[in-house]
Amino acid sequence: MLTSRLKSSLIDPTSSTGLIWRLLSEYAATRWHRYAIAFALMAFAAGATALTAYLAGDVINKAYVSRDFHAVIQTSLILMLVFTLRGAATYGHSVILARIGTSIVAENQRRLFDRLQQQNLTYFSERHSTELIARLTSGAAAVNQTLSLVITAIGRDLLTLMALTAVMFVQDPIMSLVVFVIVPPVLFVLRKLVKRIKLVAMTQWHGGAQTLETLQETIQGIRLVKSFTLEDKMRERFHANVASVQGASNKMARVSNRSAPLIETLAGLAIACLMVYAGHRVINTGASPGEFFSFITAFLLAYEPAKRLARLNLDLNVALVNVRVLLDVIDSPPTEPSDEDRPPLKVTTARLEFRDVSFSYRPGEPTIRNMSFVAEPGRMTALVGPSGGGKSTVLNLILRFYEVGGGVIAIDNQDIASVSRRSLRSQVSYVSQDVFLFRTTIRENIAFGRPGATDAEIVAAARAAQAHDFISGFPKGYDTMVGERGLGLSGGERQRIAIARALVKNAPLILLDEATASLDSESEHYVQKAVAELCKGRTTLVIAHRLSTIMHADNILVIEAGEVTDSGRHDELLRKAGRYALFYRLQLQHQQEREPITASGG
Ligand SMILES: Nc1ncnc2c1ncn2[C@@H]1O[C@H](COP(=O)(O)OP(=O)(O)OP(=O)(O)O)[C@@H](O)[C@H]1O
Ligand SMILES: [Mg+2]
Repeated sequence: MLTSRLKSSLIDPTSSTGLIWRLLSEYAATRWHRYAIAFALMAFAAGATALTAYLAGDVINKAYVSRDFHAVIQTSLILMLVFTLRGAATYGHSVILARIGTSIVAENQRRLFDRLQQQNLTYFSERHSTELIARLTSGAAAVNQTLSLVITAIGRDLLTLMALTAVMFVQDPIMSLVVFVIVPPVLFVLRKLVKRIKLVAMTQWHGGAQTLETLQETIQGIRLVKSFTLEDKMRERFHANVASVQGASNKMARVSNRSAPLIETLAGLAIACLMVYAGHRVINTGASPGEFFSFITAFLLAYEPAKRLARLNLDLNVALVNVRVLLDVIDSPPTEPSDEDRPPLKVTTARLEFRDVSFSYRPGEPTIRNMSFVAEPGRMTALVGPSGGGKSTVLNLILRFYEVGGGVIAIDNQDIASVSRRSLRSQVSYVSQDVFLFRTTIRENIAFGRPGATDAEIVAAARAAQAHDFISGFPKGYDTMVGERGLGLSGGERQRIAIARALVKNAPLILLDEATASLDSESEHYVQKAVAELCKGRTTLVIAHRLSTIMHADNILVIEAGEVTDSGRHDELLRKAGRYALFYRLQLQHQQEREPITASGG
């Protein structure tokens, strides 16, 4: 189930210690002063714990040996104070660590998001969006978890253990040696478990990511799911994902707790030995009961931190699997790095030219072959041709979603590859085939065209895009919320909002990928008027599916298999009886027959 790409990236690209060092230097170093305070508080709490064990023995001696009630009361009061102070210290370091944790999670989320924005389209087409969501959520938390584990292991557990061991040694050095009976076998067993648990953690994460994927696809494709009655199929898929996560989680519980029976048994053995030896010391050699009591208290108090330390490697490795999942993304080099140091594009007339351009998505499979054409300033150039011919690719190249393989694309004689991407894109209005709307108000959606657009500009754009009337018809007008990806609006309405957005941008170059889905003739009419308004006086490149658009175009380029095979105006091309005439007969003529009025009007 796990792809080998994931497996190899997760199992061991860097050693666990290397990774921990990296986290410490990247995330902990900048927060060292806060860690220092937390550390000091933890050390204080550890000392207080050890003092408790020591004082417990002291009280026993005062009660049984010196029979001094006043001293017992005094020690008890000190004990009370020690507990209170330890409570305060624990509160302090817990809050500080939690705050550091939230700041690390936030930092990771920002870093991942920034890195994603520097990636190109190829990067996104290779990944499912939910994979990135899963990486972000589990990864950011795991970085924090790892650092917390390391810091609390050293600060709290190790210091407590050392202090308590010191107490044990002070009370009885020989007895202390018994403790070391437990350690070696436990370490041996834990080492073997670490490897297994990494694999389980990975399966668990992967299953979680797939569960999200199925959920998202079902929601986004809900029309498809319902209309094709795919409910059972999706349920099956979802149940399989959930079951795999459940299975992995159960396995995780078994593997991670497999050491518990052994540790407990050995601890019981050690305690029994201790009791026997201590009893012998008190009864036969006359040692004081306080030493014995203090030793046992220290031993019992040391038990929990020791157990946590023993598990540390296990817990760390689980967290590190998730850390790698996140760092994979953060470390992936930007495929579209910033090029702000390049000069900006200076547009005068917005003349667009393709000079001998070639391009391929995959090596050895050319999509665009030595293409040359000019889109004249202020004119509409229509791209037509069979599906898969390369029309959308032409627009992708102009926007530099992909870089050309050869030749030059020039705007006003400047090679677009030599100017900054941002300046290029800010001069281009792109209206895509499937309109994307953000989940916010219609007003905001239009304003995305140019952040800072005034209300008057938004309304003017909506009017020009033939959208004002239907927007005003909604009870909340421009403040109407649109659902995710524009649910709740008709296809024609969505298109007109997208055109209003492009109008607000007011860019000199328009790239329009006409929707293939046909609208009813009334919407068609409105969208057409909106398009005409958008293209007025601007250099426009339109991928045309509608005969009416094509007939209005100043120049038509027929694109087949990545080449321009014919060009000219509609009537010229029809008269030539070449490739266009063929294309027209196959794809467009029926539109004219169906809607003679729209087609011949204008
Ligand atoms: N991201 C991509 N990765 C790999 N190949 C791609 C990618 N996008 C498009 N292609 C391929 O490139 C060729 C041209 O695609 P393009 O989208 O430019 O066609 P089109 O002329 O716009 O077709 P349509 O009219 O159906 O929209 C097709 O064979 C397509 O399979
Ligand atoms: Mg296309």
